[in-house]
Amino acid sequence: MREQWNSKLGFLLAAIGSAVGLGNIWRFPYVAAENGGGAFMIPYFVAILTAGIPILILEYTIGKTYRGSAPVSLGRINPKFELLGWAQVMVAFVITVYYFAVIVWVVSYIGFAFSSAWGADPAGFFFGEYLGLTDSPLHLGGIQTNLLIPFVIVWVITFIVMYRGISKGIELACKIALPILLVCMLILVVRGITLPGAADGLDYLFSPDWSALADGKVWVAAYGQIFFSLSIAFAIMIAYSSYLPKKTDVVNSAFITATANHGFEVLAGIGVFSILGYMALQQGVGVADVAGAGVGLAFITFPTAIDALPGMNGFFGVCFFLALFTAGITSFISIIQAVVSGMQDKFGMAHKKAVTVVLVPAFLLSIFFVTGAGLLILDIVDEFINKVGITACGLIEIVLIAWFFRPEEIRKAANEFSNFSIGKWWTYTLKFLTVVILGISLIITIV
Ligand code: PHE
Repeated sequence: MREQWNSKLGFLLAAIGSAVGLGNIWRFPYVAAENGGGAFMIPYFVAILTAGIPILILEYTIGKTYRGSAPVSLGRINPKFELLGWAQVMVAFVITVYYFAVIVWVVSYIGFAFSSAWGADPAGFFFGEYLGLTDSPLHLGGIQTNLLIPFVIVWVITFIVMYRGISKGIELACKIALPILLVCMLILVVRGITLPGAADGLDYLFSPDWSALADGKVWVAAYGQIFFSLSIAFAIMIAYSSYLPKKTDVVNSAFITATANHGFEVLAGIGVFSILGYMALQQGVGVADVAGAGVGLAFITFPTAIDALPGMNGFFGVCFFLALFTAGITSFISIIQAVVSGMQDKFGMAHKKAVTVVLVPAFLLSIFFVTGAGLLILDIVDEFINKVGITACGLIEIVLIAWFFRPEEIRKAANEFSNFSIGKWWTYTLKFLTVVILGISLIITIV
């Protein structure tokens, strides 16, 4: 008997937990601000409607109908498609290892935030004292012992959640983590928008630059962001939906997942940019000078901003890093599950054995990330995976299904138990629009 989610809500929370991740907090706001601000919402909505939701419906239906992880489900559609599933699992496995590193740092920073342990120079502290960064990815510089405790904490949580399985592990973890995440984010938003300078930050994020709409790169950014943000084409959503009962309404599940994810992105954007606006005002610089994304935003800019707050700095600091932690860990377990399901279904392994087979090598590889070269390795991996890996896997998936299989059959299966039926537009969108736009994006990126 295949394991199942306890309830549809449990599945939705897990899917939303996967979608809402580090990217929502540290990537989306910056990508939006850099690509036309308020005007970015237009290409982004188009990307959600023409790629995000249609592909989610596709993946949910494939998982639910063929009842297997990505390689197995795709293989059941056509044995030749199995390879694509494995490529997606590979991408997922690579992301696992580096997503892990960031979560380890976040755990340390939850502790540091209580007392602003980063001192007067957060950048120097992060790269030097904390990471002990070396000068080259080939020069490991030994294990950073101060990383060992958070490293162990994150692995212990992960092992426990994964061993407990779908409903007792992942579903429960998301039920605990997501409310914490929402509360922390709301606290930051309320604090942010009541600060002087908040309006400048929000203005920078939302004021529309309409000329951006004519820029191809802005559209590429919108499509790149939606794949990453919704965790599609990573084998994750297929794996998660393979534990659904047959009668689930996948169409409304896809809409709910996409809406919740986007709502959270916008919320995080408001929180992050209102606080950055305040900091810019304090420092007497423009918001553009302090805006950033990724590791720099989380571990350098935000600590600086937290120190600049008028009071309760420790509290807001903990909220911020706790938000990153809860967002990150629920995405992290989803990537691992994508790989675990792959092994389990393909080789008929028992659940616990599959978890061990996946987690032990991941654990060993992750040791590289607690050496002095961790951040440098992460940068290289991130660059390649994000820019090329994801779009390529997404594009191949859609071409295979829409052109070499019968997408209408999938559409029927999607509609079978759905209140709101999707029309032929779905097939045409995937077949033409999505394929063309992803193709162009990929070419632009590679060039
Ligand atoms: N969707 C997650 C985010 O926004 C990222 C993610 C991508 C998670 C791929 C798992 C797999 O951060």
